[in-house]
Amino acid sequence: MRMYDIIAKKKHGEVITDEEFDFFINGYIKDEIPEYQVSALLMAIYFQGLSRKETVALTHKIMHSGDVIDLSDIKGIKVDKHSSGGVGDTTTLILAPLVSSCGVPVAKMSGRGLGHTGGTLDKLEAIEGFNINLTIDEFVNQVNKNKVSVIGQTKNIAPADKKLYSLRDVTATVDNIGLIAASIMSKKLAAGSDKIVLDVKVGSGAFVKELDGAIQLATEMVNIGTDMGRETVAIITDMEQPLGYAIGNAIEVKEAIDILKNEGPADLRELCVTFASTMVHLGGGAPSYEAAETMVLENLSNGKALEKLIEFVGAQGGNETNITNPETLPSASIVKDIVADQSGYIKDIQSDDIGIAAMILGAGRETISDAIDMGAGIYFNKKIGDYINAGEVIGTIMTNKANKVDEAVATVLKAMTYTDVAVEKRQLIKAKVTKDGVLKY
Ligand code: URA
Ligand code: CA
Repeated sequence: MRMYDIIAKKKHGEVITDEEFDFFINGYIKDEIPEYQVSALLMAIYFQGLSRKETVALTHKIMHSGDVIDLSDIKGIKVDKHSSGGVGDTTTLILAPLVSSCGVPVAKMSGRGLGHTGGTLDKLEAIEGFNINLTIDEFVNQVNKNKVSVIGQTKNIAPADKKLYSLRDVTATVDNIGLIAASIMSKKLAAGSDKIVLDVKVGSGAFVKELDGAIQLATEMVNIGTDMGRETVAIITDMEQPLGYAIGNAIEVKEAIDILKNEGPADLRELCVTFASTMVHLGGGAPSYEAAETMVLENLSNGKALEKLIEFVGAQGGNETNITNPETLPSASIVKDIVADQSGYIKDIQSDDIGIAAMILGAGRETISDAIDMGAGIYFNKKIGDYINAGEVIGTIMTNKANKVDEAVATVLKAMTYTDVAVEKRQLIKAKVTKDGVLKY
């Protein structure tokens, strides 16, 4: 078999076989196939696309390029959740205890953040003593005992994806539906859960900008999961503005506590209730989505979800007082209001730029080796459609870097666009894709 022939086949729109995908991924991982040939194949795929069968074959090869986690020692149906990236996305901190409080086990491996997107692990480490470095055995025991654990990804998950993603990044071949679907699903499938719920973001702050494209991507991923015997549901959500109010680490932990206390921002709450209900239903905790939603809402109002967070934090060595008394979480020495420089209805918020402002303040990493300031961040409680008066406080920045304050404030102000005419509020949940089809809201 020759890589040249596989490239030529795809160039002419022919179908790549299972054996050919195997040859390509194996050879690439072993550095036997040079990157210039892989680049050419990626570009051919970019223009000719992948059939459903090809996408499944590619996903399967990428998934098996590294370790495949076996969670079969955990009792019950394990449901994993994945978000296709976002700014100020606090959801795992909320969903893990909330879903667990409804009796469905949550066994989650999470990552760190890079650039303007935050990572769940960094947020968890804002809690004093919280240990994300459990062995797989400890992890399994923890889930069997408390029905919830979140750890760092220790195993070598889908190494072929890491190589392919870096190459796609520099060859303008990231934004292809088949390649994105194979990339995301290979990692989720290798992580070992029985069922998968995907948060597919759509909008200017996401990989896909239009609803049609998001539905296509969601359908592709649901099909891959279905074909591999892992039921998958995708929910398409708006990414035109940051989710919730808090962007940072300690302040996002505080926001998660607020939601679990039945308070907090309406959009973040709506998203969490939708995802938790879907996960509880898929995980067999309730006979229907509606029954699951009733249980989720109950556990938010009766304190059970918050109790679960306290227990989960304590079980992983974290200081429970950080949760019961959130003022004890890390804070920042400089707290400064962001004051609007214009009047009008907010027409647009560049989420990426708000995330970048938080990173400048110390809440994120520019490079992998950067340290994070757990107390730094931005509290920004305005949404598209809100009317703002010039001089009004639209947010607060928190930092220990006095020399970064002006730059961060300017970045936030520049991220906003105003208009004189009323602007409709954004609808958060746009569509749901299951193996049975697409439901638009
Ligand atoms: N996220 C991924 O993990 N892979 C992609 O290709 C795009 C987004
Ligand atoms: Ca947030």
